[in-house]
Amino acid sequence: NSDKIIIAIDGYSSSGKSTMARKLAKTIGYRYIDSGAMYRAVTLYAMRHGIIRPDGSVDAESLVDSLPSINIDFRVDDNGQQTMLNGEIVENEIRTLEVSNHVSPVAAIPAVRHSLVRMQREMGHTKGIVMDGRDIGTVVFPDAEMKVFCNATPERRAERRFKELTAKGTSVTYEDVLANVMERDHIDMTREESPLRCAEDAVALDNSAMSIDEQNDWLLNLYNSITTK
Ligand code: CDP
Ligand code: CDP
Repeated sequence: NSDKIIIAIDGYSSSGKSTMARKLAKTIGYRYIDSGAMYRAVTLYAMRHGIIRPDGSVDAESLVDSLPSINIDFRVDDNGQQTMLNGEIVENEIRTLEVSNHVSPVAAIPAVRHSLVRMQREMGHTKGIVMDGRDIGTVVFPDAEMKVFCNATPERRAERRFKELTAKGTSVTYEDVLANVMERDHIDMTREESPLRCAEDAVALDNSAMSIDEQNDWLLNLYNSITTK
């Protein structure tokens, strides 16, 4: 079957979405898009332009006014996929705990979501895409042929993310990472505009006890079962 499809991978923070989405895309020759990187890039822009107030709240009006001057793109080079903010590679800058601590309130602003969802749909218009995020199967591509909803226990997710940040040389505590993971889950699930939820037609995966390889195999099997029908 040579018809390309759209693959939507949603789920909780640090649940392994991007790891398996990226791997599947590579294996089947699809384009991979990390929609969370786009919300993180908008957040980085807001932090740099004083749009996040000292108390951590977002000046939503200023941010919405700035949207036309926020250009987000992806570039593929030898280091993999790089997130670009107005022409600058910000792949490392967007992964800090500081950005993680501000991103969910930014992502709850309806105009921010509308703007990014429009870009995401544009990226998927020729299909052959794997996109991960929170609302890909519910809002961005409700007709996606394959949908997965990913979860693991908060402790397991925080542990994995803590290891990842520590390996990069960031000094963070496990407790701070766990608090961030739980806080983002809460904001993402309870926001008015396209909250995090499992699409009715998504296949749920709890990978708490799965290795990366096991998870990758599970996803490839699902893809094969859907595309060979
Ligand atoms: O990788 P991690 O799960 O930590 O987060 P991410 O996928 O980089 O997403 C960062 C934040 O962006 C999430 O906590 C959400 O607030 C927001 N997001 C969203 O609202 N919708 C998406 N499709 C993707 C991310
Ligand atoms: O994209 P998302 O935030 O859902 O998660 P991720 O960035 O793919 O995974 C978070 C961290 O957990 C990464 O460092 C992965 O290597 C790790 N991980 C793991 O150790 N075992 C798994 N089964 C899945 C992810």
